[in-house]
Amino acid sequence: MSSLLLTGIRQLVTNDPTLGDGSPLGLLHDAALVVEHGRVAWAGPAADAPDSDQARDVGGRAVIPGFVDSHSHLVFAGDRSEEFAARMAGQRYEAGGIRTTVAATRAASDEALAVGVARHVEEMRRQGTTTVEIKSGYGLTRLDEARSLAVARQFTEETTFLGAHVVPPEYADDSAGYVDLVTGPMLEACAPFARWIDVFCERGAFDADQARAILGAGSAVGLGGRLHANQLGHGPGVRLACELGLVAVDHCTYLSGEDVEALRDSGTVATLLPGVEFSTRSPYPDARALVDAGVTVALASDCNPGSCYTSSMPLCVALAVREMHLTPAEALWSATAGGALALGRDDVGRLSPGVRADLVVLDAPSYVHLAYRPGVPLVLDVLGPTGGGPS
Ligand code: NIG
Ligand code: FE
Repeated sequence: MSSLLLTGIRQLVTNDPTLGDGSPLGLLHDAALVVEHGRVAWAGPAADAPDSDQARDVGGRAVIPGFVDSHSHLVFAGDRSEEFAARMAGQRYEAGGIRTTVAATRAASDEALAVGVARHVEEMRRQGTTTVEIKSGYGLTRLDEARSLAVARQFTEETTFLGAHVVPPEYADDSAGYVDLVTGPMLEACAPFARWIDVFCERGAFDADQARAILGAGSAVGLGGRLHANQLGHGPGVRLACELGLVAVDHCTYLSGEDVEALRDSGTVATLLPGVEFSTRSPYPDARALVDAGVTVALASDCNPGSCYTSSMPLCVALAVREMHLTPAEALWSATAGGALALGRDDVGRLSPGVRADLVVLDAPSYVHLAYRPGVPLVLDVLGPTGGGPS
């Protein structure tokens, strides 16, 4: 098959303001789209559609770009449902729970880890995710981090070395020694399998000086930097990310006015992870203030066994609308185009000619249904791979 014409698209979200209604979503009504060799060849009004080898009528449904989930931790073993139940009974979320998963992950075979990642990637795909970033961070030895990343690489090019997730128990009294390991032998073993390097910059994990050293070492071997920051409280992480010109800083739950200004001025994407606030019963970040200030906002799942065990981008969109006061249009844009920006990608997250034809047919007439019908499986069909790297 060389070309496929999709017809009967009641609403097409292109995320290309030069197409359609001129809004950031680049909305077209009664539209058609041509796919050739996995790329969008044409998108426009149905009445102007060119001929093609094959056609498929989607029956008056909405078509959106596949979700770009720029933050997940899928390489893990074990289960922390008891920790979740305890939280729902009033206990606070603490970063220390990560060590429970570290013990289980170290004990798991490569094969078992890969089976787990495959299951979660497939689960994501069924919910419309076509690009996913996957972090290490539950190995925390040279060998366990490297094999975690080798497993992640089987599923996506968007792999992130997170050796600096927490200080493992065997270095409890020597965090400086652990930073030396992360920036030295561990980085050397992991860099071949990674595109990004990340640090959990938070009280109880790594401080700003340690984060700066780790990101610097990663940058020296060609890895792009990203940060987990300001999740559990105010801190220096967001400003550090902006100062270093990182592509994205994730969580951003506790922000000062200065943090918001720094994000706006640097252009660093603020990636919000509302599933975490939902699953830890914490206050949501002020997404409205960020968007109103002109900050670029992405939405991602943060799928992990501790703070947020959902793989559902539609849930994140619904939470962003209901709990964080984004409009449905802003939330969808952040979960697609915003995620692409957070990964420095211009070939995904939109549906304009030349980009990858990674798209979702919703069993709904409009993208608004993603928030209007929370919890309902609206993804009817997905075109394009889940995973994959820049092309
Ligand atoms: O992004 N913040 C740090 N890491 C994860 C939590 C991991 C865990 O609790 O296992 C997060 O929320
Ligand atoms: Fe995370």
